[in-house]
Amino acid sequence: MPAPLLELRDLQVEFHVDDAWARAVDGVSLTIAAGETLCLVGESGCGKSVTALSIARLLPTPPARYTGGHVLVEGLDTLAMSDKELRSVRGGTVSYIFQEPGASLNPVMRIRDQIKEALHLHRPERADDAEVVRLLKLVGIPAPESRMRDHPHQLSGGMQQRVMIAMALATQPKLLVADEPTTALDVTIQAQILELLLDLKRRTGMAILLITHNLGIIGDLADRVAVMYAGQVVELASAQELLRRPLHPYTRALMRSVPELGHPVPRLTTIPGIVPGPGRWPAGCRFAPRCPIAKPECSAKMPGLSEPEPGRQVRCPFSDEAGS
Ligand SMILES: Nc1ncnc2c1ncn2[C@@H]1O[C@H](COP(=O)(O)OP(=O)(O)O)[C@@H](O)[C@H]1O
Ligand SMILES: [Mg+2]
Repeated sequence: MPAPLLELRDLQVEFHVDDAWARAVDGVSLTIAAGETLCLVGESGCGKSVTALSIARLLPTPPARYTGGHVLVEGLDTLAMSDKELRSVRGGTVSYIFQEPGASLNPVMRIRDQIKEALHLHRPERADDAEVVRLLKLVGIPAPESRMRDHPHQLSGGMQQRVMIAMALATQPKLLVADEPTTALDVTIQAQILELLLDLKRRTGMAILLITHNLGIIGDLADRVAVMYAGQVVELASAQELLRRPLHPYTRALMRSVPELGHPVPRLTTIPGIVPGPGRWPAGCRFAPRCPIAKPECSAKMPGLSEPEPGRQVRCPFSDEAGS
């Protein structure tokens, strides 16, 4: 079997906060195959972004430190790479898009020049207007020949995110990491950007790690889904299986909080309690204090990940009892 494009092996990341190190990501193991779309879901503060940023070792150290595990990109561990080796991964093999396109674009540069900058770094032979136009077309920007002369503020939020995606694609990444790419956009634009990602996935064959707190979108986009809670993966399954029969009580709770189509509601209002932050994780199962089926023993011993079916993982010995 070929090595996966990305393999996280028992990743551990800590932050220095208030004179102590607190673990934010605690033993995450995941793979992404070439061309695969993996959705990483979970409430705010579960460790999704920290996991994603670790792929290209993008977290500033300090306050972060990598205390364990491996991040293998095409078999090579980015946590052990020299800065020079990392530069070919960052924005090369792996590209990122983030929540706030406005914050990542340079306000005083025309978008043509920003895209050219990305091209210069990674594909200097194609750093020309024709390639910029091709990329802007690829992401659905109308009249790219004239729009490329615009500055970011002349574009709407949705168009800015398209430009960010064009910049990410400029380097022809094998893996696009999209960290809540639509959260800052309004609902109709969100749908358009997700549709664009789906289209790009089909047309470019790149793999996508899509981070979202919205399970409503995974049916259309994801091949597989990993659910994170308090720094750990608590469930992993194909998107179809997860939607058909979620196993972990946390996944079930998340799915109950998905807004009905066409009726957007404030996100995640239905799970009582909050995600405990790094350093404040309870003993035993970290979800137990919020879990509707928790038993006394759940708070005594941390459940491991079990494999109830091939390709499925769940961190709850009582998931059969959770009901649908
Ligand atoms: N730069 C940082 N310094 C200190 N703590 C951080 C930093 N970045 C993230 N964290 C902590 O790590 C935890 C996980 O964060 P994050 O991965 O951003 O969550 P998510 O993306 O799932 O919302 C958060 O609770 C946060 O407190
Ligand atoms: Mg995040």
